[in-house]
Amino acid sequence: MDFQSNDIEVLEVKQKMAKKTVADIDVKGKKVLMRCDFNVPLDDNCNITSDDRIVKALPTIKKILEGGGSLILMSHLGRPKGQRDDKMSLAPVAKRLSELLEQQVIFADDCIGPEPKQKAQALKPGDCMLLENLRFHKEETIKDKAAKEDAQLRQAKDDFAKELADMADIYVDDAFGTAHRDNASMYTVPMMMEGKPRVIGFLIEKELKFMGEALSNPGRPFVAILGGAKVSDKIGVIENLIGKVDRIIIGGAMAYTFLKGNGKSIGKSLCENDYIDKGQKLLKQAADAECEVVLPVDHHVVRELKPGVQYRTAVGDIDPGFQAVDIGPIAAQTYKEKIADAKTIVWNGPMGVFEIPPFDVGTKAVALAVADATDKGATSIIGGGDSASAVNMLGLEDRISHISTGGGASLEFLEGKKFVCLEILDEK
Ligand code: 3PG
Repeated sequence: MDFQSNDIEVLEVKQKMAKKTVADIDVKGKKVLMRCDFNVPLDDNCNITSDDRIVKALPTIKKILEGGGSLILMSHLGRPKGQRDDKMSLAPVAKRLSELLEQQVIFADDCIGPEPKQKAQALKPGDCMLLENLRFHKEETIKDKAAKEDAQLRQAKDDFAKELADMADIYVDDAFGTAHRDNASMYTVPMMMEGKPRVIGFLIEKELKFMGEALSNPGRPFVAILGGAKVSDKIGVIENLIGKVDRIIIGGAMAYTFLKGNGKSIGKSLCENDYIDKGQKLLKQAADAECEVVLPVDHHVVRELKPGVQYRTAVGDIDPGFQAVDIGPIAAQTYKEKIADAKTIVWNGPMGVFEIPPFDVGTKAVALAVADATDKGATSIIGGGDSASAVNMLGLEDRISHISTGGGASLEFLEGKKFVCLEILDEK
């Protein structure tokens, strides 16, 4: 049989979906080491401001505990750069998890060393322990490419991973938000546990199912909504989506790099001048593939970006001295109409500076349009990060098919990149 590149991509997506899960293994009496993404937002007093990532890990956690496994959870929080930093301790996560599980979650003050090792050995079936932030050790984030080129780094990363791997009989990965990283706990630990069961959890399974099916077998029209500040962050996604989606709706500051390339005056709106040519090439590629690209025709603009400041609406060109902070009302209405008939929607990135009202109007309009389309039967997928926060802020989460827990990870998935840390896990 002669494979076309499309067939190969579909196969790759299917492979990503055909991983063994915790439902396929027996955990009774076993020590289970599970990588979660408990990288939750904290306020200045270290209170968790959204427990979404903890709540979404519960089905896998409960499955293991109810199956009689002894559970050792590990995660990172923030980017402490290899230093212990109490502001990035996972202790508040252990507390919240105890409340949600209604059982004590033992907390180990470090992720490696004698204390967690001894605590792990003492765990009984049904017990749950959380290790302290993996990134308090610099070895966690040593990149595998660097480790390949430097024997000392290789040794350090391997030694760190071995201490974690030695604690358990089974490895479970449910950290979708970190799936694009080759951190020691994501990649080296499961590599070291070869021969033992190494499976994914229900959260990763769900994330891969929604995004994999959207990309390989979408209901049409398939509409992508892309926003955010930088076009450079989204080039890979746009390239991968042209040819797959029927329409790309663009908002946020990234729109102005395209509009400047189209000859519009954009005032002092954000623009990545180095990417103007690339933007124009992408627009041509999209036109050749008969993929409609929708850019804003009007804009909310300000002289200075600060809360509560009065904005003007600019149609077409933007005057010098003004900067766009949101899409305008005509664009919002157009986007609503372009979303209304969609059968599959992926959305990543806000339409404006939504965290500073009143520049959230466009993002709100798009969020509502996505929820309305979902009510009418569309499958809607929101990449994590800002667009997920916008949907949550508006209380629309129940009207969306899937809100990803991974910002960077969902973006890389949409770019068509492979997650090496998942590839090495057991196939069904
Ligand atoms: C995220 O929040 O995107 C993940 O937890 C990954 O975090 P990182 O970008 O610091 O690796």
